[in-house]
Amino acid sequence: VNVPYDLEAAKKDGYDTFMLKEIYEQPHVIAETLRGRIVNQKIVLDELNDIDFHQFNKVYFVACGTAYHASLCGSQVLERATKLPVIATVASEFRYNDPLVDEQTLAIFVSQSGETADTLAALRLAKEKGATTIAIANVLGSTISRDANYVLYTCAGPEIAVASTKAYTTQLVLLILLAYYIAQELGKEIDHELIQQLNTIPQYVENILKDHSIFENYAKMLENLHDAYFIGRSLDYASVLEGALKLKEVSYVHADAYVAGELKHGPIALIEDGSVVIAVATQPHIAAKTISNIQETMARGARVILLTTHGEEVKNVENTYYLPDVVPTLQAILVAIPLQLIAYYTACIKGCDVDKPRNLAKSVTVE
Ligand code: G6P
Repeated sequence: VNVPYDLEAAKKDGYDTFMLKEIYEQPHVIAETLRGRIVNQKIVLDELNDIDFHQFNKVYFVACGTAYHASLCGSQVLERATKLPVIATVASEFRYNDPLVDEQTLAIFVSQSGETADTLAALRLAKEKGATTIAIANVLGSTISRDANYVLYTCAGPEIAVASTKAYTTQLVLLILLAYYIAQELGKEIDHELIQQLNTIPQYVENILKDHSIFENYAKMLENLHDAYFIGRSLDYASVLEGALKLKEVSYVHADAYVAGELKHGPIALIEDGSVVIAVATQPHIAAKTISNIQETMARGARVILLTTHGEEVKNVENTYYLPDVVPTLQAILVAIPLQLIAYYTACIKGCDVDKPRNLAKSVTVE
């Protein structure tokens, strides 16, 4: 008997693409990344036991691409939790801009592959300047994870699709854990509700994945467009940057993300009849402002996809998806799922090679 055997298909585990498989692995890998990290309401990161966090007067996050977007989120969470000044910067800027790094600096390098050339060069520079360095990596034993003073691993497993999905959400989980771990070690007040809810995130992600057909319908709105506009504020801005990156990477729809408050300073000039605006408004202190920006784009003919929470008052928005009710910081993880699926389905509808987009590499080991 001739038993057909296709190794590629076998590795995809029944999914059409690696990207979709990896999107669906997220409940599991997020749970793996959380495993053993919360014990009796305390965050446990034994790898960092011998760091005295009182020695630092500032923190840098350095990364590229998707890992930079996770860092932008992590930097806001860390700054709020510790009241230390925190700067997130792209590695290719950090390494050439003579950053203000010294012995009192904690520098955190985020990289799925642990091999990105710019991130590695930035790490070496920070070490030379005397910083204490922590790597957040996914690939065990990778160069960045070996070179840093300390390493924490995301437990995303191998990520094959060029566009990062599960590495991103596990980075968010680990960075939120790290932020509250540092706060805890500094004796700061801890958001116990957030710590409690972390363990419920895998189940919520699972539930959002069940709504996939909603996002497939949203994707149909983008099929014939050249441009898409993403807006958000605060933590939601990091989320829309990543949402826009996902869309352009896999579907080649030109997508830009803006701080919603900046719309009136330029981008709104581009909005016309039929433009699509994807808005994320999950942060209660600022969501109403973003929603009012949406109305401004609708008045100019935009079609809107709004990802928000039940507490917000939404009027006349064509497409609104309500995220589950968790603390605002954790919405950054949940909202990544609809944004990934919108990008994924847009690419599929357009017949793009989802796993291997043109001109892109999984790991950029040259400058
Ligand atoms: C490449 C990949 C991106 C990734 C970036 C940083 O551009 O295509 O998906 O976010 O590199 O990679 P790293 O392995 O350092 O996270």
